[in-house]
Amino acid sequence: MKEITKYRNNRILCIGAGYVGGPTMAVIAEKCSDCIVTVVDINKERIDEWNSDKLPIYEPGLDEIVKKVRGKNLFFSTDVENGILDNDIIFVAVNTPTKTFGKGAGMAANLQYWEIIARQLRDVADKPKIIVEKSTLPVKTAEAMERVLNDKDKFEILSNPEFLAEGTAVNDLHYPDRVLIGSRETKNGLEARKVIVDIYANWVPSEKIITTNTFSSELSKLVANGFLAQRVSSINSISAVCEATEADISEIASAIGSDSRIGSKFLNSSIGFGGSCFKKDILNLVYICKSYGLHEVADYWESVIKINEYQQNRFVANILNSMFNTIAGRKICIFGAAFKANTDDTRESPSINIAKMLIEEKAKLVISDPKALKNIEFDLKHYKSKIDYINDPYEAALESHAIAILTEWDLYKNLDYQKIFETMIKPAFIFDGRNILDHKKLFKIGFNVFPIGKKAMLHYN
Ligand code: UDX
Repeated sequence: MKEITKYRNNRILCIGAGYVGGPTMAVIAEKCSDCIVTVVDINKERIDEWNSDKLPIYEPGLDEIVKKVRGKNLFFSTDVENGILDNDIIFVAVNTPTKTFGKGAGMAANLQYWEIIARQLRDVADKPKIIVEKSTLPVKTAEAMERVLNDKDKFEILSNPEFLAEGTAVNDLHYPDRVLIGSRETKNGLEARKVIVDIYANWVPSEKIITTNTFSSELSKLVANGFLAQRVSSINSISAVCEATEADISEIASAIGSDSRIGSKFLNSSIGFGGSCFKKDILNLVYICKSYGLHEVADYWESVIKINEYQQNRFVANILNSMFNTIAGRKICIFGAAFKANTDDTRESPSINIAKMLIEEKAKLVISDPKALKNIEFDLKHYKSKIDYINDPYEAALESHAIAILTEWDLYKNLDYQKIFETMIKPAFIFDGRNILDHKKLFKIGFNVFPIGKKAMLHYN
């Protein structure tokens, strides 16, 4: 039996129908069949897509869940105002991009959308509400939100950061490593905390639901992404050492990853991390450190981003050097636009920067990707005349001088590289920015092979 609280705990609203709000609410509706879940967004086109057969995001397993619960206990709407009136539990999952202007530009989070919502909540809400921050927000945002809302008795602000990764969002939501819920540790704060804990307790074991104070919860999210990104930058920095010596990055990753204190995940060397979170969250952390005068700490975390940029620059420099210092007029085929496999998302994808650098060297580019072509075409719209977008990898590689693997799609592991080699201009090059291919086999076919953090295999000296 659910406890009676001043909140109607069988109705949930989420403001923001994006990558976080959509999948999270679909799973809450699936697992809490006695709750009515409504997702609102001012973007009508997006809401129409959520209500159609073609959802606005691609996420394995999501279509099935949405089909099962939509219209039953999951609803998508543009009516934010009535949403606020009808619900006492309100998740806020709007995007918080990095500021592009004014103080903290390029670093701090832009809280513009979030602040509009806070004002709307203040003006519309007629009774006590629990506001749950789902978007990644800078530490102390809850405090700032409280100031805007200006009514501590009416609004209880909680932090419940999202840890789902794209491509595995549904699985991450079904089986989370942990759910983090931060609140004030006052009587009202603890009451609201319990309401949110009870929602997750419908399917998450209690030992995995961690409760903390609000600021610990907010900061934990930034730190979790900082630590993950730091692992990628750490292994990538060592890949440069490997290429300069006889060491092999895969052997090192396996040797160090077998130490249970280090662990084996997030040790794949690559062309660098992308995605909407890592860079933004680290910059946010850096900005927070700087604003508290913690400059050494800020420099430490900023170096994680610098290594990420260095890795991409190094990859392009390697292409240039190995193709006899000029790629002007040469056709380079990029396999992979998404920032990682199993997503159509290209936000902060290393493919964007790498494509731009190759164009600066006047290469002719062809980009191929099974899901993300539409998005990367938009990201690179200023380079329209210089890039061809071709879905089929065989067609894309036709008469090219080099292939660069930038996303670890399974599709690229299983192509007929003999067939591809035969259609390419010789000498043919392959730059495996994800170390997913059988390099010895490619070399035997006739390719000059350049993996990451391993010795190159060349048919010339
Ligand atoms: C990440 C966090 O994992 C998630 O908890 C948080 O909520 C949002 O940010 P996501 O951005 O979806 O999720 O991607 P993730 O799977 O973490 O990968 C991030 C980037 O690191 C990708 O570009 C990926 O290709 C790269 N990566 C990851 C590596 O280069 N090597 C690795 O070993 C692992």
